[in-house]
Amino acid sequence: MKLTLKVWRQKNSDDKGKIETYNVDNISEHMSFLEMMDVLNEQLIAEGKEPVAFDHDCREGICGMCSMFINGEPHGPGKGITTCQLHMRSFNDGDTIYIEPFRSRGFPVIKDLIVDRSAFDRIQQAGGYISINTSGNTIDANATPIPKDDADKAFDAATCIGCGACVATCKNSSAMLFISAKVSQLALLPQGKVEAKERVLAMVEQMDKEGFGNCSNTGACEVECPKGISLENIARLNREFLDASITSDK
Ligand code: SF4
Ligand code: FES
Repeated sequence: MKLTLKVWRQKNSDDKGKIETYNVDNISEHMSFLEMMDVLNEQLIAEGKEPVAFDHDCREGICGMCSMFINGEPHGPGKGITTCQLHMRSFNDGDTIYIEPFRSRGFPVIKDLIVDRSAFDRIQQAGGYISINTSGNTIDANATPIPKDDADKAFDAATCIGCGACVATCKNSSAMLFISAKVSQLALLPQGKVEAKERVLAMVEQMDKEGFGNCSNTGACEVECPKGISLENIARLNREFLDASITSDK
């Protein structure tokens, strides 16, 4: 198929950036979207032009790196998939496709389609862990009985890959779906309850510092999340935060 690509080009974080138009030919419907981008880059290199910078790593929906805003949607059309899992059969011969970086104050553009998502790392480092003695005296995890429903919900929350699509699609640039997943995966388990109050207060404080907005229950994040993280987690985050705000001595 032949396609017209409207791609965001930006030399660095200080550059204003603009949309450039490219035409690509001989794109197979079986290619992934990133393979189509590889074809574009080979073409640009052959023409002596600079290839488009974009993030990618696993190319199988695990790492969360492939952050592209395609035709106005993070990870493009299709539900429950990342950009690397999007196939060109989702498009038609002759289509024009707009490709932009994830946009948010918390995710500044580094170059072209690459954004700095280290804000998510700093939020995780603020409390998204448990402190545990790993000296060899640890108790076998299976020795702690956990209700099946709690284990299932914690596992579902733990499937968040930190891609940032929830932020990119939210009109408030809210990171609450991401943080709620990271808080929930621990809050539901006995191992995570010990530091639950400190965790939720510290992670929300860091979220505010990074410039992400609040949740106003639009639900776009849940729709665009490639891992199906549920809004139920944001409700849990709010309950955890309220409880910690009232009862914590921190
Ligand atoms: S909650 Fe979903 S959209 Fe947000 S970072 Fe996690 S996997 Fe990505
Ligand atoms: S490249 Fe890893 S999720 Fe897409």
